[in-house]
Amino acid sequence: MTLTGKARVAGIIGWPVTHSLSPVLHGHWLKEYGIDGAMVPLAARQEDFAAVIDGVRRAGFVGVNVTVPHKEAAFALAHRLDDAARSAGAANLLIFHDDGTIEGRNTDSIGLAESLRENIGALDGKTVVLLGAGGAARGAIFALDSLGADTIRIVNRSPDRARDLATSLAKDVKKAKLVALDNWASAAEGAALIANTTSAGMSGQGPLNLDLSVIAAGSTVLDIVYSPLETKLLKDAAARGLQTIDGLGMLMHQAAPSFEAFFGVRPQVTPALRAALEKVLRERQ
Ligand code: ATR
Repeated sequence: MTLTGKARVAGIIGWPVTHSLSPVLHGHWLKEYGIDGAMVPLAARQEDFAAVIDGVRRAGFVGVNVTVPHKEAAFALAHRLDDAARSAGAANLLIFHDDGTIEGRNTDSIGLAESLRENIGALDGKTVVLLGAGGAARGAIFALDSLGADTIRIVNRSPDRARDLATSLAKDVKKAKLVALDNWASAAEGAALIANTTSAGMSGQGPLNLDLSVIAAGSTVLDIVYSPLETKLLKDAAARGLQTIDGLGMLMHQAAPSFEAFFGVRPQVTPALRAALEKVLRERQ
């Protein structure tokens, strides 16, 4: 059986998936643009990922967004990949084509780049501190590179993981340098932007405990975490008079190319969309 009629249906697949804002986000745009469609949450355990993808593809879904913990599995399953997915080794968007092939893309780094562009513009000649060395960090490095950052200092709790990331990037991103967390003061020195790509600070997880007094006035602190919207890191940074950028901007901007791929319209990221998402986050607290 396949879905019939004009309605286009896409999914967001993850485990857990109930926290995902994608249905709200895409639902907002579907209504705004008068499109007959839906974005449905698909809860799938790691071992069931491929079977669920096969099922929804056969059922006529146009594609899925992919969240934790399936981004690497999505990468492995796709028949074709864009450069961002290839660089990250992970895909957050799978598009099901009529010929049965699956295209994998990664829109996370576009989302981060757009959020930064909107808030502080290009990073030409600037030094950036990147906190974290996981999948999100990898995507973020390409975003920072694309915005012209001069030096990217990678700082991570586990030095081995940071070293692995720096080594694997050495050929493509020469501006990425490793700085030990023990040398936090020198890592932060002269940085125009501190970007947290770790999951620390997310609801249910401990916060990042960093000495923010070493960050120069006029710098910006960005967190990719959006639940809670104001993490301890951002709260402390704001209290010091630093500019802050929360994770909602990245979330909204990574969703725009997905929406276009699913529903055929490139949507706008607007204050009304942000307000709708903030309302949902507030209600969940
Ligand atoms: P993702 O794909 O979302 O990046 P990940 O690959 O599991 O997820 O990476 C999580 C990142 O958050 C890592 O850099 C991790 O640090 P370690 O490499 O030391 O594990 C970081 N992280 C998670 N919780 C943290 C915490 N409480 N303090 C500092 N870093 C943390």
